[in-house]
Amino acid sequence: MAYETLIVEIEDYVALIRLNRPDALNALNSALLAELGEAVAAADANDKVRCIVITGSDKAFAAGADIKEMSEKSFVDAFTDDLFGTNTEDFLRCRKPIIAAVAGYALGGGCELAMMCDFIIAADTAKFGQPEINLGVVAGIGGTQRLTRFVGKSKSMDMHLTGRFMDAAEAERSGLVSRVVPANKLISEAMATARKITEKSALTAMAVKEAVNRSYETTLREGVLFERRLFHALFATEDQKEGMSAFLEKRQPQFRDR
Ligand code: CAA
Repeated sequence: MAYETLIVEIEDYVALIRLNRPDALNALNSALLAELGEAVAAADANDKVRCIVITGSDKAFAAGADIKEMSEKSFVDAFTDDLFGTNTEDFLRCRKPIIAAVAGYALGGGCELAMMCDFIIAADTAKFGQPEINLGVVAGIGGTQRLTRFVGKSKSMDMHLTGRFMDAAEAERSGLVSRVVPANKLISEAMATARKITEKSALTAMAVKEAVNRSYETTLREGVLFERRLFHALFATEDQKEGMSAFLEKRQPQFRDR
């Protein structure tokens, strides 16, 4: 399927979704957000996709929500349309693992989009920030909540109140990104990581995603119980029998997602 604001390629069971509004540093306008929702839903439904990578350009993953598109909105427009609500809820429905591969600016909604993915691999050129305060607003796609969970209250307050940018080294140090790689290796590293995930049982990967995400939504005790019940349930799968037999027989498992 052809998109106006995205380039989507599927290779080796990985869908690589590239945000493609170079003239606006991939600012998230309504067209891009709608297409991204469609592309992620299509990848989620496609048997030829087992993992998704979302990336931008060398200069920008995304420089935020589109300020030109937003600037004249009234409260009534924003509230009535639930600005960014529907798009992001759609995005979060995806059950397959999503990696954000971030080079350059990931600001405002760009940082928030990266944080909505399952983990972030950053190029050494990446710069993260929540500079909405400079525009007279607060973050609107979860930044005050997700960044705080990633990096803690003190650094999150610092980022949101000053609008400063965090480089890749600081992002890795503070737990926002899982690893930093040289910029020229970003896509190959992200694709290799995604391919590694495609070799696992897709069923188990889905369970991992649900269990880790549950830690954001619930108490520790309830989360641990949810995890334990999932663990128990997976003993009903062929992939558990295969995974454990393969280990004991000293061979690679052949998972069948069942
Ligand atoms: N929305 C719309 N257009 C944007 C944009 C954005 N968020 N960010 C950059 N652009 C456009 C610029 O207007 C410019 O377009 P023109 O050439 O037509 O003027 C083009 O992209 C290139 O940008 P710059 O000339 O500014 O590039 P630079 O290298 O000098 O600076 C930058 C790069 C530091 C990222 C700067 O563009 C910038 O500060 N952008 C805005 C960042 C921002 O405030 N993001 C938060 C948006 S609000 C938000 O996201 C709310 C939310 O939580 C939902």
